[in-house]
Amino acid sequence: MRIVGLAVPLRFGPAAAIGPAAGRRAGAFQQCFFFTFYPRFSVDIFDRISANRGPLGSHSHYAHGYFTFPKLEGQINPRMMFRGKEVLTWSLNNYLGLANHPDVRQADIDGATDYGMAYPMGARIMSGNSTLHEQLENELGDFVHKPAALLLNFGYQGVVSIIDALVSRHDVIVYDAESHACIIDGVRLHQGKRFVFPHNNVENLEKQLVRAKRITDETGGGILVITEGMFGMSGNLGKLREIVELKKKFDFRIFVDDAHGFGTMGPTGAGTAEHLACEAGVDVIFYTFAKSMASIGAFVAGPESVIEYLRYNMRSQIFAKSLPMPLVVGALKRLELMRSQPQLRENLWTIVRALQSGLREKGFNIGTTESPVTPVLLNGEIPDATALTFDLRENHGVFCSIVVYPVVPKGVIMLRLIPTAVHTLADVAQTIAAFEAVAAKLDKGVYSKTPLTAVPA
Ligand SMILES: Cc1ncc(COP(=O)(O)O)c(C=O)c1O
Repeated sequence: MRIVGLAVPLRFGPAAAIGPAAGRRAGAFQQCFFFTFYPRFSVDIFDRISANRGPLGSHSHYAHGYFTFPKLEGQINPRMMFRGKEVLTWSLNNYLGLANHPDVRQADIDGATDYGMAYPMGARIMSGNSTLHEQLENELGDFVHKPAALLLNFGYQGVVSIIDALVSRHDVIVYDAESHACIIDGVRLHQGKRFVFPHNNVENLEKQLVRAKRITDETGGGILVITEGMFGMSGNLGKLREIVELKKKFDFRIFVDDAHGFGTMGPTGAGTAEHLACEAGVDVIFYTFAKSMASIGAFVAGPESVIEYLRYNMRSQIFAKSLPMPLVVGALKRLELMRSQPQLRENLWTIVRALQSGLREKGFNIGTTESPVTPVLLNGEIPDATALTFDLRENHGVFCSIVVYPVVPKGVIMLRLIPTAVHTLADVAQTIAAFEAVAAKLDKGVYSKTPLTAVPA
């Protein structure tokens, strides 16, 4: 860090108004002087980032290529290759097993052969529209029982941009504390007030709505409540029905990110709101193609006038290239299979039930999941987690995602399993046996006695 000078800013408000860190530095001086004196440091940005690699990047020296950025190779199936060995994988959101379905593979090939990856060029609004883009939107809207739908080139940017387009600075956003990063980033763009409620705490949400209403009564704005349909880490479902009920007491609109619920939840796969029988009360819904559809792209669905507004006002769509045609052709095929082959969803749920009941019977804590996402919660520190994961992968051939602090509390290790329609009951049995073996070692302290200091090459 280089000291470049001593600034003497004139400030009359509380020190906190210039940021908490500066506030702490300035606090002592403030007692004595009317004006705030504080040293101002500047730092070279590259120096700072080479000193602080970020919460995940700081582990990259031992994690890269194994715990982070692992390479699963071969066809996308439950059995794939990891560092030259076959592993049983539970970490892909290929819920319906469509990634490697022969009809899907063929449609992807045909789309690329007929159109190449470039067509159509430009943003939809300028030159990047096509009849197939519009056909896909109509079919998607019908599938999720909404009057209209709008295709998005990427899900993450889509959510950020939907939020940005829906609210004005007079509006108030109220959102779930465990919302996905794309919701958080969308909320960050908001220039008006925002309130957060603890995850799925509807009682607290009501309190936040009272606060929000006080503000909108003054600004003349509206309230947007944002949550997820199916939470991808815990497997919890958003309290959509209870939130919709609150509309009887408060005026607000609901925006739901149902990335994981699309294709997996509800009698027809239309998502979590269908599963919870409250579709009509959920105003605007987002779904991605990155999970059940095993592709890239996304869409937002809702009332005709709102979707038309988003079509002309979402900055991530107006100022970016539209979805390449092979992705559109591929999505049409995937949607056809989702409609015509309900057995894919049934297979998924057979595996989900077998896995979750099997784990529970063996005494594992799988949290409060109500969906295919299956977290297994164990007690241990980060070194235990890495040694256990290594053992699981190398000695039991089981590959799943590992989640540690700060995503889960200190002392908790979360192994996250994503069942799919193409797993088998034998895969489930192998995995439960492997989990029993590693959990027994964890309990005996084997991993903390022999922590993994480096992943063997
Ligand atoms: C809840 C949720 N919302 C949005 C996204 C972003 O979607 P995409 O991968 O299509 O950008 C994800 C992750 O894929 C997600 O899990």
